[in-house]
Amino acid sequence: MLHTRPLGPNAPAVSAIGYGGMHLSVTDRPTESDALRVIHAALDHGVTLLDTADVYCLDHSDIGHNERLFAKALATWGGDRSQVVLATKAGMIRPDGRWERDGRPAHITQACERSLAALGTDTIDLYQFHAPDPKVPFAESLGAFKALRDVGKIRFVGVSNVTVAQIEEARAIVPIVSVQNRLNPFFREAIEAGVVAHCAAHGIGFLAYSPVGGGRLNKKLPTHPLAVALGERHGATAHQIVLAWVRAQGPTVIPIPSARSIQHTLDSVHAAALTLSEDELGAIDRAEFSRA
Ligand SMILES: NC(=O)c1ccc[n+]([C@@H]2O[C@H](COP(=O)([O-])OP(=O)(O)OC[C@H]3O[C@@H](n4cnc5c(N)ncnc54)[C@H](OP(=O)(O)O)[C@@H]3O)[C@@H](O)[C@H]2O)c1
Repeated sequence: MLHTRPLGPNAPAVSAIGYGGMHLSVTDRPTESDALRVIHAALDHGVTLLDTADVYCLDHSDIGHNERLFAKALATWGGDRSQVVLATKAGMIRPDGRWERDGRPAHITQACERSLAALGTDTIDLYQFHAPDPKVPFAESLGAFKALRDVGKIRFVGVSNVTVAQIEEARAIVPIVSVQNRLNPFFREAIEAGVVAHCAAHGIGFLAYSPVGGGRLNKKLPTHPLAVALGERHGATAHQIVLAWVRAQGPTVIPIPSARSIQHTLDSVHAAALTLSEDELGAIDRAEFSRA
């Protein structure tokens, strides 16, 4: 069994490493049968937090692609679905393949119906507001999530791409279980701005997205001198070292790496058992991870 961490206040514990499905549905995506095999491998190895979004797809005509994949994977999986938290999101759109925000309550309400249909369920386990929309008051967007929770269409509410002030504004409207922001050694703003510490102080799950740096920067890890040296010391890959560092940033941090291959998926899953010493964590804190 994988190590676990509480997802958030009054929410169940989930695997200390989750799995994000984005790369199964955007450009260079695998075939459906390969994608299902990847999700099944994650589930078979104890992952109980899956992260998706309506907009993990190619463009507007393809909305819900990733949600439908997860629904199919869970329906064809032999394990216990009740132990798995499937998190999705609303608040973005994909006109002509672009990524744009739409935080209007009407959009969120409509997106929820579409996601319920794509997921083949009556209740979304964890519904996250994808990103604040500067054109819409944050409280209005969160009001839509509260209304959906009040009628039982959502079990838990989360927010994403938010500041500490926005977390507090959201919590005044509806209980917030989790926050999903970017965190990796190349991008540390979630630590610097206090979001990780704020989540820890309130027992709110911090779902670290792009935990190995995202699609481009993760490719630099296998040649990063410190990540490689620590990997050799621990019999681990450079990606696993980075995932262990991300997880160590707070007691409620849960990395949600994505991958298109079973090999990469399981490499990340196995990082749940890897612990770095204070000295090793400090060395990564001080190391340069160039985004160039
Ligand atoms: N809330 C938001 O706004 C937001 C934004 C971005 C992402 N997310 C979420 O976070 C998840 C992950 O983010 P991300 O995809 O941007 O970044 P990521 O997980 O840091 O990077 C994913 C890439 O890293 C590679 N990779 C992952 N683990 C690896 C390993 N152990 N060994 C070798 N390669 C590995 C994968 O390669 P292969 O594909 O070749 O296997 C994949 O292309 C997404 O699926 C999504 O659920 C949320």
